Amino acid sequence: MVDGDEKQRTRLIHVGLGGWGSDWEANAIPPVAEVERVAVVDAHEPTLRAAQEKFDLPDEMCFTSLTEAAENVPADAALVTSPMDFHVPVALEALDAGLHVLVEKPFAGTVAEARTAVERAEELGLVLQVSQNYRFYPGAQAARDLIAAGAVGDLSVVHVDFRRWDHDAPVETYRHYAFPHPLIYDMAIHHFDLLRMTTGREAVSVYAKVTDPPWSRYTEEASAVLVIELTGGLVASYRGSWVSRAPQTLWDGEWSFEGAGGHLTLTGRGNDGPADDAVTLSVGGGPARPVALPPMPLWGRSAGLRQFARAVRGGPAPDVTGRANLGSVALMEAAARSAGSGKVEQVEQIGGTSA
Ligand SMILES: NC(=O)c1ccc[n+]([C@@H]2O[C@H](COP(=O)([O-])OP(=O)(O)OC[C@H]3O[C@@H](n4cnc5c(N)ncnc54)[C@H](O)[C@@H]3O)[C@@H](O)[C@H]2O)c1
Repeated sequence: MVDGDEKQRTRLIHVGLGGWGSDWEANAIPPVAEVERVAVVDAHEPTLRAAQEKFDLPDEMCFTSLTEAAENVPADAALVTSPMDFHVPVALEALDAGLHVLVEKPFAGTVAEARTAVERAEELGLVLQVSQNYRFYPGAQAARDLIAAGAVGDLSVVHVDFRRWDHDAPVETYRHYAFPHPLIYDMAIHHFDLLRMTTGREAVSVYAKVTDPPWSRYTEEASAVLVIELTGGLVASYRGSWVSRAPQTLWDGEWSFEGAGGHLTLTGRGNDGPADDAVTLSVGGGPARPVALPPMPLWGRSAGLRQFARAVRGGPAPDVTGRANLGSVALMEAAARSAGSGKVEQVEQIGGTSA
């Protein structure tokens, strides 16, 4: 890359080099020519040193605090892949250091917390984006476009099923069992976000019934059945489980969109890129035909990262600004509330957002 081009690259400080942060380093950042990772930060010194060795980084690029990194390394932006509880605190630290922010899902546990970062970014005129990587796959994008174009007519109902077995590891060694809301925060946030994206509607209310068996090793819900009401009276059913022995789904789960004029199915987000994505369309009761999906040279996190880099350089706003993501956080927050209360919970209406 020549000097002139290098100046155009977004210089990233990457915060949080645990399991998923390391995967960003290995797989998601390298394909994006518009960015350059200039420093890494992890508050846990052994994790930082392990990342330093794995990615062969000099000492001058490795820090245990974001503020220290920002003071020492010229940078434009922070990529935040710490656990959820640290997303907003680290995002605020980055914004206050003058850095644009791309943060992993879930943005925050509550709309109120997420909004503090949204408002700070807007005050400072900095880009704040949430990495909802499942949006950047050809199946989800084709489903959104077909539904918006009226391919199945007015939607009558949406059904979503997510089934995985993640229950083999012993309790003592497997952190996932102790995650806060391992289904609703860790996984269903992706599906809630896709529900808003594909239908173009906001959630209004949600009822969540936890269905965990007595033998579940998870501290909080690993499986639940949800009923979600969206704007316009559209109802979605959601059945999600980390303890399912039924045939396993891809990470997207299996989607069924029924409308007055037809039926559309979606699955996708495999482990190896977009190749597993599949959409079928049946019109007027006719046979279900596969929909040809466009190639996506960059997908998932990398596609979102490219949008981020372009927005930082003055290009169009990314699809998932922090503000646009508040509706997904609102549904997630209400679903977790419902799982605890056993009642239908209203979803906070954000207003002015686009799915
Ligand atoms: N989008 C996806 O498909 C997907 C998949 C997996 C994980 N994730 C998300 O990625 C995030 C990280 O997950 P993980 O499994 O790597 O967690 P992890 O616990 O393995 O790693 C997080 C790292 O962040 C570091 N950290 C915490 N607070 C910090 C701070 N203030 N400053 C610097 N470093 C700090 C920790 O020391 C740790 O090394 C989570 O938000 C998770 O939801 C997303």
